[in-house]
Amino acid sequence: MMLDENAARQRAQELRTLLHRHNYLYYVLDQPEITDAEYDRLVRELQQIEQKYPQLVVSDSPTQRVGGTALSGFTSVTHQVPMLSLSNAYNAEELRDFHRRVLQVAGSQPVEYVVELKIDGLAVSLEYTDGVLVRGATRGDGTVGEDITSNLRTLLSVPLRLQQPLTLVARGEAYMPKAAFLRLNQEREEAGLPVFANPRNAAAGSLRQLDPKVAASRGLQIFLYGLATVQTERPMTHDASLRLMQDAGLPVNRQRVLFTDIEQLIDYCLSWHALRHDLPFEIDGLVIKVNDLSLHERLGTTAKSPRWAVAYKFPAEQVRTKLLAIEITVGRTGTLNPTALLQPVTIAGSVVSRASLHNADLIAEKDIRVGDTVIVQKAGDVIPEVVGPVVELRTGEEQPFQMTDQCPECGSDAIRYPGEVAWRCPNVSCPALLRESLIHFASRDAMDIEGLGPAMVTALLSAGLVHNVADLYYLSQDQLQQLERVGAKTAENLVQAIAVSKQNSVERLIFGLGIRFVGAKGAESLAKHYRSLPALMQANESSLLSVPDVGGKVAESIISYFGAEANQQLIEKLSTAGVNMSYIGVETAEDLLGGKAFVITGTLPTMSRDDAGKLIE
Ligand code: IVH
Repeated sequence: MMLDENAARQRAQELRTLLHRHNYLYYVLDQPEITDAEYDRLVRELQQIEQKYPQLVVSDSPTQRVGGTALSGFTSVTHQVPMLSLSNAYNAEELRDFHRRVLQVAGSQPVEYVVELKIDGLAVSLEYTDGVLVRGATRGDGTVGEDITSNLRTLLSVPLRLQQPLTLVARGEAYMPKAAFLRLNQEREEAGLPVFANPRNAAAGSLRQLDPKVAASRGLQIFLYGLATVQTERPMTHDASLRLMQDAGLPVNRQRVLFTDIEQLIDYCLSWHALRHDLPFEIDGLVIKVNDLSLHERLGTTAKSPRWAVAYKFPAEQVRTKLLAIEITVGRTGTLNPTALLQPVTIAGSVVSRASLHNADLIAEKDIRVGDTVIVQKAGDVIPEVVGPVVELRTGEEQPFQMTDQCPECGSDAIRYPGEVAWRCPNVSCPALLRESLIHFASRDAMDIEGLGPAMVTALLSAGLVHNVADLYYLSQDQLQQLERVGAKTAENLVQAIAVSKQNSVERLIFGLGIRFVGAKGAESLAKHYRSLPALMQANESSLLSVPDVGGKVAESIISYFGAEANQQLIEKLSTAGVNMSYIGVETAEDLLGGKAFVITGTLPTMSRDDAGKLIE
């Protein structure tokens, strides 16, 4: 049927309204009124009209989800209300502890909680102005995230326009349903591409693609679980915020229950251990939130997480599989780590083929033998570990494990320090040690050098281009380009990333040096206390012991590290390269403002008192 332009405009408008409504019925209310095929027919009809009359296309049309061109990079977005994370509770007792902490502030009034599913995906923020989606961003470090609007627009459950012209910022989780994940990995396997370990990685990887067509093809979805700001009268309860969002057309998970009795709440949490497997998406726990928003204000937040909410994390999942072999790898500090090579199995949604065996003593104690059927467990983000053998399933063919007495990388005789369980390679120039120390130096919590992962480190070492971490700062693009499979662009990016890392605040360097017993947190305390690496190098034991988080073992290790001539030369070389040696980290709000009270007086023309409070926090 041929329509003239006026009739076409009218029909296009009708179709858009219909499609918005069916989207809402499907994704928000979960009550579709038409079949997928009927929905597709309506989309096609709208596409045909828009093709014929391109002037009728509007940006929030359901046909305009996938933008035309790929981006060259993501821009940064500063979150007006920070995106915090949650503290965890791992069992009933920790949930009772949380409840007790809440009661200390709530006093004698009964406290109502909302229990929601903890969706395992990627935290995102959606911003609507007058009902129109204007921005979608990742959480990033909580304060600054990345603008991924063009990717989030491709999610059919993200409304491009709300049911009402509201201005709000909503927070939620973008995720990949289990079925979409299995399909994606199957396709990737057939195409010879590496598979994703779990739906969360797949969702995050998809949303970080510069070409929105990729995200559009991955079947991602979203649930919103919080309202950061809204320019209407603020709801009184969390549950009312969720209803407000749902009425506005945002998909909110309907699996949420109110409790005032903590024991009933705990029973409910436990009941999800089994139920979780029946959901079409993965959850890694439940989130318990105080319902009364005025109580949120009184409870406040710590630097990282609100005191009015807690995540109940499910216990570690265990599975059985075959232990095929035990491999010895050399750790950063020279430890010889036995690692189990397993028949691949899926645990907690990811495929596991290696697991930690900790140390030789434990293997002997648990009597783990090569060829055994073993129990493997995985809790949260931690590396999977072997719990023990299933002795009843032994055939007699199993081989007891014999710990090596030589470093598998350099052949040095392994040694064991008194009081330590680990065997070590004593060779300070062992290639494995150097490799691990370079990987650690470049890692995210250390110097955070993008593009310098295990494969690149191995390539640099085999080409003889680096012999210590300082050598990284003397690499040229030309040298890098000579490596196999390193093109001009990769080389340029790496040189750039290395150069950028020179500006890091010194705690990253202190951590990156890999001084024994100095973790990321200890490095930060040391940096804040001494303000520079040269000052730290001069510190004596009694001075070091006055630093928070530094005990005798740590102080001794620091003194011995900086006492070594080779390490002094290394730092000299880093300094000559222009690597920053001072503390320039921002003091966190907690450092500067912790414990201070703020009073807001007078009228606030541009925001609510709640929002102002959040901004100060
Ligand atoms: S509330 C300020 N509710 O879990 C509180 N978070 O470790 C913000 N998550 O980064 C979180 N489902 O991405 C909340 N129903 C839910 C959630 C949820 C998943 C994620 C969220 C956050 C992480 C917390």
